[in-house]
Amino acid sequence: MKIFIDTANLNEIRKAKALGLVDGVTTNPTLLAKEGEEAETLIRKIWEEVKGPVNVEVTGMTCEEMVKEAKVMATWGEEIVIKIPITSEGLKTVKILSSEGIHTNVTLLFSPSQAILAAKAGATYICPFLGRLDDISFNGLELIRQIRAIYSSYPNIETQIIVASIRNPIHVIEAAMLGAEIVTIPPAIIEQMVKHPLTEKGIAQFLEDAKKIGTKK
Ligand code: G3P
Repeated sequence: MKIFIDTANLNEIRKAKALGLVDGVTTNPTLLAKEGEEAETLIRKIWEEVKGPVNVEVTGMTCEEMVKEAKVMATWGEEIVIKIPITSEGLKTVKILSSEGIHTNVTLLFSPSQAILAAKAGATYICPFLGRLDDISFNGLELIRQIRAIYSSYPNIETQIIVASIRNPIHVIEAAMLGAEIVTIPPAIIEQMVKHPLTEKGIAQFLEDAKKIGTKK
């Protein structure tokens, strides 16, 4: 399973990279807006740091607008993935961009039927939003399970699932158990994944005992 980092914050990306965790980065307009830097400049810096897939989202509403935007964004780094919300215009855009070799990620995806259409259009990736479904009392993991089952039934589907909108470490574990190719994780959740109270307790005890045997001053 690959791990992408769901942030546009360079320091957080560097911290995760030091742990060997950054196979790619996902951003969206909200994450970019938090950083207060012009999008192109920041995405170029992120790409230099990651040297792997960096996802940037178009905001046009028509296919024409999205294709135009995507072609500019695709020049901001060598592996820019264009995120496109799932609409009819978005699907047309995916079809055009994928036929031109531009990688796409169909985002804001909340149903298995949307996942089928995205794969048919030739999306490189899809981003089902797990947490946002849970937020409104729908079972987000059931969505991932259904998409995994559908995609696995058709070996010719090459679209990869990026499980997104992760709210806790359990989401990551479940996504991995379902065989999602990628999980995009916010930095705060990575911190939670590292920690365990028994690990902390164990370290404290060993330090204490190490003082008794002269291996710790
Ligand atoms: O990658 C998608 C993600 O950024 C959305 O997450 O927490 O805004 O639902 P969230």
